[in-house]
Amino acid sequence: AADAPLAGRHVLVTAGPTHEPIDPVRYIANRSSGKQGFAIAAAAARAGARVTLVAGPVHLPTPPGVTRVDVETAREMLAAVEQALPADAAIMVAAVADWRAADAADQKLKKDGSGKPAPLALVENPDILATLGRHAKRPGLLVGFAAETQKIAEHARAKLARKGADWIVANDVSGPPGSSVMGGDSNSVHIVSKDGVESWDHLPKDAVATRLIEKVAH
Ligand code: C5P
Repeated sequence: AADAPLAGRHVLVTAGPTHEPIDPVRYIANRSSGKQGFAIAAAAARAGARVTLVAGPVHLPTPPGVTRVDVETAREMLAAVEQALPADAAIMVAAVADWRAADAADQKLKKDGSGKPAPLALVENPDILATLGRHAKRPGLLVGFAAETQKIAEHARAKLARKGADWIVANDVSGPPGSSVMGGDSNSVHIVSKDGVESWDHLPKDAVATRLIEKVAH
């Protein structure tokens, strides 16, 4: 039906940051609000899809009709994503922390009086998008996001190949301070695929979501 173009389809979305523990009270994170990913999950549900939203720690309500799985870390996010397969389309919007502490401490780290902080060793997190790109249950359509400040299309094309995605939605996060995309309500995006680049200038995140889901349904 025209009002439910994704009826019968399963759409998997990741959103938000991840939190990587250093000790019981401290973590590594980033400034992702989760707004764009939640808007995409909401738009997919409005289009009639069954939607699984794997969300990092964010302060956002669950959109109507969406099944939400809350996670903290990148490794938990990967496990939840694999658990949710198969999916007809997967849209990986989460700003996954690239690194985690090599050994999260069981007890709160204490200053030892020497004036020298304890060294913090990092290890790389799994790349969830790239894992799906070569997965036995690879979704039929695999979409990644990328925040870029320069050579946007070129960097996005490289990311397409590296991650095995079908589209990369590149956020233009350049521009004056205060016009920040992170946490804000609007976005300028370039959708890069093997067929070329489509650019949507300065749209509210909800409009980006609606248009992206129309494109997924097309
Ligand atoms: O490499 P970069 O972090 O710029 O790639 C961004 C894209 O890859 C986003 O779609 C993001 O959700 C996904 N990603 C991921 N797992 C990671 C890092 C990024 O799924 N560990």
